[in-house]
Amino acid sequence: MTGTTKPTERRLATTILVIGAGGSGLRAAIELAEAGVDVLVTSKRPRSDAHTSLAAGGINAALATMDADDSWQQHAADTITESYLLADPRTVETVTRNAARGIEDLERYGMPFAREEDGRISQRFFGAHTYRRTAFSGDYTGLEIQRTLVARAAALSIPVIDSLYVTRLLTRDGAVFGAYGFDIEDGTRYVIHADAVILAAGGHNRIWRRTSSRRDENTGDAFRLAVLAGARLRDAELVQFHPSGIIEPESAAGTLISEAARGEGGILRNGLGERFMERYDPERMELSTRDRVALAAFTEIREGRGTPNGGVWLDVSHLPRETIMRRLPRVYQTMLELQMRDITQEPIEIAPTAHYSMGGVSVRPEDHSTDVAGLYAIGEASSGLHGANRLGGNSLIELLVYGRITAQAAAEYAAGLDAHRRSAQAVAEARAEVDELLAADGAENVRVLQRAIRDTMTEHAGVVRDEAGLLRGLEEIASIESRIDDVGVHPDIAGFQDLAHAFDLKASALAARATLQSALERRETRGAHNRSDYPELDPTLQVNLVWSADGTVTREEIPPVPAEIAALMREVSTTGKLVE
Ligand code: FUM
Repeated sequence: MTGTTKPTERRLATTILVIGAGGSGLRAAIELAEAGVDVLVTSKRPRSDAHTSLAAGGINAALATMDADDSWQQHAADTITESYLLADPRTVETVTRNAARGIEDLERYGMPFAREEDGRISQRFFGAHTYRRTAFSGDYTGLEIQRTLVARAAALSIPVIDSLYVTRLLTRDGAVFGAYGFDIEDGTRYVIHADAVILAAGGHNRIWRRTSSRRDENTGDAFRLAVLAGARLRDAELVQFHPSGIIEPESAAGTLISEAARGEGGILRNGLGERFMERYDPERMELSTRDRVALAAFTEIREGRGTPNGGVWLDVSHLPRETIMRRLPRVYQTMLELQMRDITQEPIEIAPTAHYSMGGVSVRPEDHSTDVAGLYAIGEASSGLHGANRLGGNSLIELLVYGRITAQAAAEYAAGLDAHRRSAQAVAEARAEVDELLAADGAENVRVLQRAIRDTMTEHAGVVRDEAGLLRGLEEIASIESRIDDVGVHPDIAGFQDLAHAFDLKASALAARATLQSALERRETRGAHNRSDYPELDPTLQVNLVWSADGTVTREEIPPVPAEIAALMREVSTTGKLVE
């Protein structure tokens, strides 16, 4: 790359641009293609390896194949109870009512669900569900869903460019009209014109040190794209820490050990051999909610009852070998590959790992439209379903349900436009931003600064937070932001990954700032958000917190829960919270 060579810039046009080729993006694209709507999908990593492929233990729908009394209303009640009343009841109703349809869609596309001998889809327990309602495919459920959707997209000849990093959404007068980006392999620039854009580019859990995301996933890029276009973020502080991430090797720290391991009967013990969940949730034990199990493990470790490497034990070795090989094959393989350990014989050393952004781009419950006309957000990029504690298995079903509904809404919006919006200035600004970063030759190293953000978020915005730490975190992010102004970016013969990392870095800084500022405002303990300086749940904070680009955080009321669902809800309990 020489300073004088003008980069190639390709121009493409489509009706709907989908950014992200994970489960939600592909499901949306399939809906559009099946309806004959022109669609283009872009992704920054190969579609077969999108983050959805890592989702493990299952996908929820009240099919009642195992427990006849289950119903979508009970699924909704469980979801709202365990969200600590922060889930939007309208979003919850949409997902739970349409969940069976989502499973049918997958079956129609050829998804190989695990089945009982008589052909019924098997359903297993996941934490805090009243009934067995998590359908699965071993513990490779996300991978099978992704394979199924990739195959369906191919059958429909949906164009997917899967090495394209989107740097900006193109807007004019408060409406989106496409996106700008570059090819990570060869640097080719792209101007993509579209009537509507569906953002399906994930969340921000990679900004913690120990995380179940790989290094260039979930860096907050969807949040940055949406915010720069004029959208806002809702509940950015509500990040789910999964109780079971592996500790070693350091390069793979945080890799997920599926909740299916507990669902199948796995037992948690501390370094002293105590089954510690007895102290935190004696009734539900290992099948308690994720926020409680993660906090319990965190507390055991912090109070000196952890394992030699600073974790706790998860033991499945008492289960029949056949159960492990058939229902937990990925956990078995992961431990063999990464640690040379046989889980049929030995326990697994685990610790909490940043796993899922329960907040995200602020969207309307009916169609996931945003504050920006023509811009929609789905999947982990969006918000509304999970509140302060996500039920395991709910995110995969959300992809299916809102992938379909949002696609229909975007198509309808596009059909109603009477002119194509365009702005040469917006394109010029996006182009200039890439030019400027490519020419950056400062002393700061992008990867070092990414690491600094992860350190800051881990120290100051982890499982347990307090005001002093959050303020310190904000100071550190401000200092990192000023260092970002002095980065050097060096694409090389291998490609433009360094440029992609530089944009990821900017995105992570924005996501970190939004998280810290929102966490400061949530002066209470609720679900995954544990404030040691405010250990009680505050009923006046039963609101969503909405963050804007200028750093302001406003409260948004949550509509009441419909009576038929409220009647099925348990009391929202704080047992097991901050028991230390
Ligand atoms: O533990 C798991 O298998 C994760 C599932 C989920 O996050 O939904």
